Amino acid sequence: MKIEIPGKTAIITGSSAGLGWGSAAALAAAGSTVVLTGRYAEKLQAAKERLLQAVPGASVRLHVADLTTAAGCSSLVEAEPSCDILVNSLAKNWTPKDFFNTPDEEWETSFQASVMPGVRCTRGYLRQMMDRGWGRVLFLSSVEAVHVNPDSLDYAFTRAAVLNLSRGLAKIAGASGVTVNSMLIGVTMTEGTESVLRAMLPTPDTDLYTFGAAAVKQRYPTSVDGRVHTVEEVTNLVVYLCSELSSAMTGGTFRVDGGIVENLV
Ligand SMILES: NC(=O)c1ccc[n+]([C@@H]2O[C@H](COP(=O)([O-])OP(=O)(O)OC[C@H]3O[C@@H](n4cnc5c(N)ncnc54)[C@H](OP(=O)(O)O)[C@@H]3O)[C@@H](O)[C@H]2O)c1
Repeated sequence: MKIEIPGKTAIITGSSAGLGWGSAAALAAAGSTVVLTGRYAEKLQAAKERLLQAVPGASVRLHVADLTTAAGCSSLVEAEPSCDILVNSLAKNWTPKDFFNTPDEEWETSFQASVMPGVRCTRGYLRQMMDRGWGRVLFLSSVEAVHVNPDSLDYAFTRAAVLNLSRGLAKIAGASGVTVNSMLIGVTMTEGTESVLRAMLPTPDTDLYTFGAAAVKQRYPTSVDGRVHTVEEVTNLVVYLCSELSSAMTGGTFRVDGGIVENLV
């Protein structure tokens, strides 16, 4: 099924790389104009060129700003005053940390980088979406929100926070025609995941996906498919949730996790 989302403007936070970039590419392929955001002009320009190679003729704009700050989010809303689809992807990288040696500043940084961009950008765009009677707000989260591993609590608490935020914002949007949802994502072969896995490879010629599968099973014994997913496997759902087809789905948390999360509902 090819999903079309023509004539919409999609803003994706943290989209110079990773799932943010992947979401932008997938939404551009569906016909939306996409706005890529990131802190570095050169990196963002390279991301745009990569996107245009993947989706020739795509309509792509760039906004350079540090969206982990209030000023960065304000500059985005000022430069891009109209938004139909907001994908809140930005989050500080997952890194293992010892709880007893994680200072307050690290918790604060995680909160500012991984929760507040979603708060501020949604505050900037939700009302206009409601006034127009159509919009999509999506929060990318992680299985770590509910499958809590104690080595990365400063990441996990932000992933749980955005689920809560998403549910509450869906209630604010109500029956306006704007849906607000979140996604629980498992291990995905982004550039970041690839470099973490490559650093752990026992030999340089070990197959990355085979090694990744072993790492998934070790960290998430409940995983049903026991493997690393491709970016496209995740962004297929991003596109669906941002399309007209998902109009009855709001206030939900949807999984692309290979069955890691045990809950039935
Ligand atoms: N990758 C996975 O396996 C995975 C699994 C589960 C959930 N997720 C979720 O998917 C979303 C995207 O994750 P990802 O792994 O694809 O991201 P990523 O590759 O680590 O980062 C992608 C973007 O985030 C920005 N970024 C990263 N750290 C930042 C910081 N400290 N301050 C400001 N910007 C920062 C980068 O922008 P700059 O150009 O400014 O550096 C980049 O555009 C997150 O919400 C994450 O929780 C990912």
